[in-house]
Amino acid sequence: MSKKAFTLTNPESGVTSELPVVEGTVGTPAVDVSRINAEHGVFTYDPAFTATCSTQSDITYIDGAEGILLYRGYPVDQLAENSSFLEVAYLVLYGELPTTPQLDEFVGAITQHTMLNESLSKFFDGFHYDAHPMAMMTGIVGSLSAFYHDTTDIRDDGHREIFARRMIAKMPTIAAAAYKHSVGQPKMYPRNDLDYTSNFLHMLFAVPAETYEVDPIAAKALDVLFILHADHEQNASTSTVRMAGSTGTNPYAAIASGIAALWGPAHGGANEAVLNMLGEIGDISQVPRYLEKAKDKDDPFRLMGFGHRVYKNFDPRATIIRGYCHEVLQHLGIENHPLFELAMELERIALEDDYFKERKLYPNVDFYSGIIYQALGIPINMFTSMFAIARTVGWAAHWCEMQNDPAMRIARPRQIYTGSPKRSYTPIDQR
Ligand code: CMC
Repeated sequence: MSKKAFTLTNPESGVTSELPVVEGTVGTPAVDVSRINAEHGVFTYDPAFTATCSTQSDITYIDGAEGILLYRGYPVDQLAENSSFLEVAYLVLYGELPTTPQLDEFVGAITQHTMLNESLSKFFDGFHYDAHPMAMMTGIVGSLSAFYHDTTDIRDDGHREIFARRMIAKMPTIAAAAYKHSVGQPKMYPRNDLDYTSNFLHMLFAVPAETYEVDPIAAKALDVLFILHADHEQNASTSTVRMAGSTGTNPYAAIASGIAALWGPAHGGANEAVLNMLGEIGDISQVPRYLEKAKDKDDPFRLMGFGHRVYKNFDPRATIIRGYCHEVLQHLGIENHPLFELAMELERIALEDDYFKERKLYPNVDFYSGIIYQALGIPINMFTSMFAIARTVGWAAHWCEMQNDPAMRIARPRQIYTGSPKRSYTPIDQR
C-alpha cells in the first residue's frame, strides 16, 4: 500500500495541497515537491542536498544506517567475494549478472578498446612534468569528446553503449599514461593478453627495457578495490555527471566534469589526503595531538578517511577493504612498517574516542584504500585516479540511465537571493 500524501498548508494564503509520496522498491520514501512553487509560490531550501532525491534510479541502493550497499540488488560483499571488476561493470551497466557468453563478449569488447588514438597520446606532452594526474585525466577525458563528437548520437542506444564500453576500456590507459608522463617514462601500450587490472598494473609499472611480472595478489586486491568503488548512487561526482548530462552535452565531456568533482579531498581526493595526513602526523606519539586538532572547531584539520554523509554506522566497503588491507600488508611482509602501524593506531584510538563515536565517524573506504595503494607502491598522487577508473562504470551507467528516463529535463536548481535589491547605476565619477 502506498504511503499517504503529505498535506501542506501555506500559512499566509491558506492554500492547501497534497504532496504525493514517491516510493522505491526499498528505502526511505520521498515527498514530491515539484509543484510546490506553482501551488504555493515558494521553493524548497536544502543546501548540500542532505534531504533531497534528485532522481529515481535502478542502479545502486545504500542504507546508511544499516551499512548496506547493493549494486542492482546484489550486496557488494558478495560481489567482492565472487566477481571480477568487469563482471560487476557488466552488472552495473546492464542490470543483470552476465552469462558466460555475455561476459566473454563484454570483456573482449573492453579489451579491444584499451588503446588511445596516437594523437590523443601526444596531448600529454603539453602538460608540465609535475601536473597532477587528476588534472591531466580531466583534460584528456574531456578531449575524447573532440575525437568522438560526430559519432556520438546520445539518442542512439548503440552509440551510448559504445561510449560506456570505450570509457571503461580507456580510463586505465589514460591514468597510466598520466603517471608515466609525470615520471618521464615512456607510456606503455596495453597488453590484451592480461586481465583488466593486471593490464593496468603493467601500464603503470612496466618499462620497455625490462620484463614486468604482475603480482597476482596485488592485481586481486586492486580488482576488489575497483569493485567497491564502481558506484555509489548520487554522490557528488555522479550528480555532476548527471547535471552536465542533463544539458545534452557530449558524454565524454560529462565524464570529465565528474573527474573534476571527484578530485576534491571531501570526495575521492580523500585517499590521497589520508596518506598526506599520515605523513604529517609522522609518529604514533603524535596521534593524540592530531585527534585533539580534529576535534577543535577552530582548527581546519579533519581526520581524513573518517566520516561519511550517508553511512552513519559503518561503511561496508571499509569493512571489506580492511580485511584485504591486512592480507596485502602481510603478503608484502610490511605489516610492521611504521606508516601502517601509525594508521592502525589512529584507527584504534579514533574508534574509542567519544567525539568520533557520538558523531558516528568511522573509517571510510578511502582510509584503507589509501593504505593498500601505498603498500602496492602506487604513487600517492595517483590514488584518486584509481578511484576515477573504477567510478567510470557508475558514471557511464548513470549517464546511460538518465538518457532513457522520460522524466529527464535539464537540471536547474533555484536559489534564495541574498544580494542587494534592485538599485540604479551610479556613474563612476559619483562613486
Ligand atoms: N574529522 C573530524 N570531524 C569530523 C570529520 C572528520 N573527518 N567528519 C565530520 N566531522 C564532524 C563535523 O565537524 C561535524 O561536527 P559538529 O556536528 O560538531 O559540527 C560532524 O562531524 C558532522 O560532519 P559534517 O561535516 O556535517 O558531515 P558531512 O556529511 O557534511 O561530511 C564528509 C561528510 C565525508 C565530507 C566528512 O565526514 C569529511 O570531511 N571527512 C573527511 C574526508 C573524507 O574522508 N572523505 C571521503 C568520504 S568517503 C568516499 C567518497 O565519498 O568519495
